Amino acid sequence: MQKLKAAWRSPSNIALIKYWGKKGMQVPANPSFSMTLRNSFTETFVTCHHKGDRHGIPLEFLFDGNKEDIFEKKIAEYFLGITGHLPFIDTMAWHIQSSNTFPHSSGIASSASGISALVLCLLTIENELTGKFTDQDEFFKRASFLSRLGSGSACRSVYGGFALWGKTALVNDATNEMAIPAMHLVHENFQDVKNAILIVSSHKKPISSRTGHGLMTNHSFASRRYLQAEKNLESLLAGMKEGDWDVFVRIVETEALSLHAMMMTSEPSYILMEPNTLNIIDKIRKFRKDSGIPACFTLDAGPNIHLLYPGSSYGEVREFITQELLVSCERNQWIDDGIGEGPVSL
Ligand code: PMV
Repeated sequence: MQKLKAAWRSPSNIALIKYWGKKGMQVPANPSFSMTLRNSFTETFVTCHHKGDRHGIPLEFLFDGNKEDIFEKKIAEYFLGITGHLPFIDTMAWHIQSSNTFPHSSGIASSASGISALVLCLLTIENELTGKFTDQDEFFKRASFLSRLGSGSACRSVYGGFALWGKTALVNDATNEMAIPAMHLVHENFQDVKNAILIVSSHKKPISSRTGHGLMTNHSFASRRYLQAEKNLESLLAGMKEGDWDVFVRIVETEALSLHAMMMTSEPSYILMEPNTLNIIDKIRKFRKDSGIPACFTLDAGPNIHLLYPGSSYGEVREFITQELLVSCERNQWIDDGIGEGPVSL
């Protein structure tokens, strides 16, 4: 029986303007803007063959070579949800192997890299099956659209550099359906942004992003938050267009703290920062003041810090990290990352 194969490497991304709150089928309540990473990625290898008269969608999922039932179930659900878009899924038996370059629950969105890598494999297989030529632009648009249905933030990982997802009057072709590449919207001062990921804790987060988004539905501050995100996007895009790192620092930190403020004031409430998160934030702000280097922090929905800074200050910031920040990290762990070029077919 003929086997079809596909393999992709796809990176994670970190949001600078945060997506927190959604409606219906993964429709974001506000636009978000992210930076795609270079070293934090998932590699996924998919093989499939016709399932014959077997029922359902036969599927096996291995993570780092081991069978992973929880992920397998999630993928099975996702496959069911997208068979309307990719009917061949239902005619095949699937074997999927994945691994990440970064540790589990390290504050790096593994769903963003994992889902986008899987979708890119599915679309490669679709191309082989149908023999239809899909042009590059269409291929990645479709990949972003289908990734969004699996995990909102995943739709932004399909593009290198910066990506924008969600309808906004600020950018003509921005849409809720998928992300668009946004590197052309920013000044060359932001072509080499570095991201040191400081692992304060690698414990599993106590709240899934699905639950977190859900808590925004009846949140007292939700409508103000969505307006703030839109305004912050406007300021950030204007600042980044001009190459202005001061604006970048101000908006990126405000966004990180606003995301956590939403979680801290939801019902039930969650405090996902830890004492060492605040210690590191204090030190970053002091370092910025003393050195004049525009280093700033952002956070995902967890305690780990993403320290963002210009590549031209790599040496000084690396020294600052090793001398002052690693004491506040779990087992001195950190990941040296930065802006990346997007997915690669393997
Ligand atoms: O893509 P989801 O549903 O896992 O939500 C991601 C939410 C944040 O990571 C907190 C913010 C973002 O925009 O990536």
